[in-house]
Amino acid sequence: MTDTDTHTGSGAAPSGAATQIPGPKGLPLLGSMFELQQDSLGAFLRARRDHGDVVRVSAGPPGLRTVLHGVFSAEGAQQVLATESANFRKDNPFYEEVRAAFGNGLLTSQDADYLRQRRLVQPLFTKRRVDGYADAIAQEGGAVVERWGEQPTVDLVGEMSRLALRTVARILFGADVEAAVEVIHRSFPVINSYALSRAYAPVNVPREWPTPGNRRAMAAIAEVYAVCDRIIAERRAAPEGPVGDDLLTLLAQAGSEEDGSLDATEIRDQVLVFLLAGHETTATSMAFTLHLLSRHPEEQARARQEADEVLGDSAPTAADLERLPYLTRVLKEGMRLYPAAPVIGRRAVADTEIGGYRIRAGSDVVVAPWVTHRNPDLWEDPERFDPERFTPEREAARHRYAWFPFGGGPRACIGQHFSMLESVLALATLLRGYELEAADDAEVPVAAGITLQAKGPARVRLRPRRKPLA
Ligand code: HEM
Repeated sequence: MTDTDTHTGSGAAPSGAATQIPGPKGLPLLGSMFELQQDSLGAFLRARRDHGDVVRVSAGPPGLRTVLHGVFSAEGAQQVLATESANFRKDNPFYEEVRAAFGNGLLTSQDADYLRQRRLVQPLFTKRRVDGYADAIAQEGGAVVERWGEQPTVDLVGEMSRLALRTVARILFGADVEAAVEVIHRSFPVINSYALSRAYAPVNVPREWPTPGNRRAMAAIAEVYAVCDRIIAERRAAPEGPVGDDLLTLLAQAGSEEDGSLDATEIRDQVLVFLLAGHETTATSMAFTLHLLSRHPEEQARARQEADEVLGDSAPTAADLERLPYLTRVLKEGMRLYPAAPVIGRRAVADTEIGGYRIRAGSDVVVAPWVTHRNPDLWEDPERFDPERFTPEREAARHRYAWFPFGGGPRACIGQHFSMLESVLALATLLRGYELEAADDAEVPVAAGITLQAKGPARVRLRPRRKPLA
């Protein structure tokens, strides 16, 4: 990629679009390299504030320079993800690393592979199917209430990570959940940080070289593959064929005349993607939303009152979701301020005009819920926690892409309903059981990983309200 976007050829680019995209100058030789490495989310926010909704950020020495094009308006995000999504592919370094580590599943695949996978997997995520997981969600949430018991304080980051992993693993693996959770809890952080550090490094040694970093990551990947492969093989070898209603069984049974069925490797790739995309994301949403509530007692009391009225003494059900509109608003506001996928990357394959600028084919492009969700043109007083932003009237009055934590367009999140159901029911269960008070008033520092990462604990003091349900 070159250091300048000045376009001299005529090409097929739309006419009238400016080709000099503004952006921070950074250091003379290294551009914004240190800023991006130390605080990429802050760097993008400042770039928007100082240069507008379409910016160009460069990093690294000449010859190894990375140039990112940030698109921060709601209209621009819609173009990249939806209306002009054919111009923007998942061929960027980020997705290449995720593909290498987690396989060619639904999150990472493209073209014919992708279309076939989506057709086979989509029926597993209908509302009716997902609502069938409410019992498992309720039981896992109830188990947290019991485990917290009389503990004076807990760290929401660790607690919600464990809850979300157990819930998604249980839905995937059914009775085999314990074997999988242990391995994933140990191995996923190693694989995540390996994939991320390679995605943003100017140069990488080949994965096959026996460096300590490569060996550690390959061992972690092998361990996760082995546990998934073992469970899949056992299911397929069962004399009566795969049985049960967990996702793994359904994946093994999925098929059609047109698409055939998924082989063992394809099933494993889907399983890995669900674990990756469905674990830390939901955990982050729940942890930060609860932490916000611990610092906003009035909103917490209102959310708890709704949970008490709707749940009574019973375990929550899927039907309760639409009876918990205030909690849903609270969660959406939590996801506005702490979107679990803070930055979504693509590579442009055709020149595209966005916001009056021409983004050239070959450019790396990022849209960023982190930045658009804080864009003062779209959100009044954006740093303030205010669930009332999500009343139906105010939602309807806003641009569809002012809030897009689940992405959008043809590659939008398939797990959106599952995640909302899980988070709202879990929040209701936890708030019914406990009053939460932030152990300190500071915000939890964050950084962009594969998903949004808390850079420290989110400690809250617990005050139990009633005996946990038996
Ligand atoms: C708060 C929770 C979640 C958030 C914020 C989230 C966010 C996202 C985003 C932004 C994308 C689009 C990525 C892109 O365009 O590059 C995506 C895709 C995806 N997500 Fe989620 N996700 C969440 C939960 C889940 C869950 C629970 C699952 C599955 C169990 C899941 C599975 C997937 C899959 C398979 C894709 C790829 C879909 C496709 O390309 O067809 N996600 N997610």
